[in-house]
Amino acid sequence: MTIRIAGTGSAFPKTVVTNDDLAKVMDTSDEWISSRTGIKERRIAKDETTAGMAAEAARAALKDAGMTVQEVDLIIVGTLSADHFTPSCACEIQAELGAVNAVAFDINAACSGFMFSLHTAYAYLQSGLYKNALVLGAETLSKIMDWEDRSTCVLFGDGAGAAVVRREEEGIFVFDQGSDGVKGKVLSCKARLVNNLLVQQGHEPDYVHMDGQEVYKFAVSTVPASINKVLDKAGVSADEVAYFVLHQANIRILQSVAKRLKVSEDKFPIILDRSGNVSAATVPLLLDDMNKKGMLKRGDKIVMSGFGGGLTWGTALIEW
Ligand code: ACO
Repeated sequence: MTIRIAGTGSAFPKTVVTNDDLAKVMDTSDEWISSRTGIKERRIAKDETTAGMAAEAARAALKDAGMTVQEVDLIIVGTLSADHFTPSCACEIQAELGAVNAVAFDINAACSGFMFSLHTAYAYLQSGLYKNALVLGAETLSKIMDWEDRSTCVLFGDGAGAAVVRREEEGIFVFDQGSDGVKGKVLSCKARLVNNLLVQQGHEPDYVHMDGQEVYKFAVSTVPASINKVLDKAGVSADEVAYFVLHQANIRILQSVAKRLKVSEDKFPIILDRSGNVSAATVPLLLDDMNKKGMLKRGDKIVMSGFGGGLTWGTALIEW
């Protein structure tokens, strides 16, 4: 028993913000951002919400899979920027879609959120408990950025990606995932402070803080190792893989991973030039972009990998 992705979908906010737009309001430039990250523009939410974009992406994925909402029995959303502490983004989507037969919950594994959600869905589906899952990554990161910190705010964007995942008899799903909480501080954002009858710590909101160089070092060492682990487990060589669909944080990370794996950069498609880093959403956003362009053929071996805050990482080899 294994799983297969049967459909994909995505949604972005309407508003495009280019590097030149940012350079008008802060001390930065297209040259600095493009040369260090590969990002040219990102979408930023105005009236869009995390759950609203996620529901739009989910609808598109169901249409692509030819599946009805009633057939969905599991909804898992990877997100660190849901609209509410509760209800979860997954429950909001359930309500919005009318997916009355589904169990719904969120997973916070930052930029690995979609991969952790996919693995969780696999565990449920493979055990026989459920049959059809909607797995999403959805973020409105612009609300947790410090727009006065040019070293972080230029990197991120908003959006949502979805995949319909089915239980199937045949196919490939081999996974590796891990966490390293000891290094958690290199990428962090505090939740609410304690304010109760006994202690008042104020209501200053916190924003994303990042030690970019430490995150870079983590990514370029952990990701190739995780990919190699999955390939070894599956007995598949890197040459046999059609595409490496990696979390879209930075083009230099992708180039370094390609080099370490001795694989052509052509096998590492990108969307970050148009999307920026959308944390948990980047892997399904890219997958949907590739699907729409007709790049994915039945039987193709695809490696997907997410990595980021926690620290966390998750890699899967799947058969399309
Ligand atoms: N525009 C112009 N100058 C800037 C900007 C900006 N937006 N941001 C920082 N600078 C300046 C800094 O102030 C610094 O100036 P100084 O030398 O006068 O002090 C200079 O640029 C270099 O700053 P660094 O932080 O050292 O820049 P670096 O070359 O390391 O690049 C980057 C930063 C792109 C974030 C890099 O560390 C990196 O690629 N990190 C990988 C992590 C990553 O991509 N994180 C994304 C989120 S995490 C995730 O998704 C896994």
